[in-house]
Amino acid sequence: MQLTFREMQPEDADSVAALEQTCFPTPWSRESFWREASNPFACYLLAFAGDQLVGYAGFWVAADEAQVMNVAVAPEYRGQGAGTQLFAALIESARERGCTAMTLEVRPSNVPALALYHHFGFQEAGRRKGYYTDNGEDALIMWRTKL
Ligand SMILES: CC(C)(COP(=O)(O)OP(=O)(O)OC[C@H]1O[C@@H](n2cnc3c(N)ncnc32)[C@H](O)[C@@H]1OP(=O)(O)O)[C@@H](O)C(=O)NCCC(=O)NCCS
Repeated sequence: MQLTFREMQPEDADSVAALEQTCFPTPWSRESFWREASNPFACYLLAFAGDQLVGYAGFWVAADEAQVMNVAVAPEYRGQGAGTQLFAALIESARERGCTAMTLEVRPSNVPALALYHHFGFQEAGRRKGYYTDNGEDALIMWRTKL
């Protein structure tokens, strides 16, 4: 799939929040994305196929670490490599901002996401008990210590 990438702007908040609703059980609000688009310590990338928003992903910069906040691909575009392209672009953006390591949390039941992160060399480094409020599932903490 041919994708293009650009950074999220405040005016993208509506469309990103709409996509978020189709991807997560406890979605972030439009206001959260609007704020994040203006946060100098955050970077969110949008992926487009033509004019169509296909996915988004973002991280916060904390010193030289990138903390991944979300990664999502629209249900109808999954399983075709979009997530892999998006995550590669995210890592490149983190490098450009001087990050040398990247971390994230993921549900142990999220098989596609785990495949994606293992593909990019992330390793499990711990667990947060009962982290997810919708079903009390633990979070796996994953790190890639060299970007
Ligand atoms: C996780 C997500 C972003 C992956 O996006 P995608 O476009 O389907 O990803 P890709 O097609 O590039 O596939 C990535 C990897 O997942 C694997 N995969 C994709 N769909 C899969 C499925 N249904 N079952 C098992 N593995 C799957 C692919 O084989 C690939 O693994 P590989 O690199 O070992 O070949 C997407 O499933 C999604 O948006 N999920 C809902 C939101 C979410 O859970 N985000 C992560 C929060 S931590």
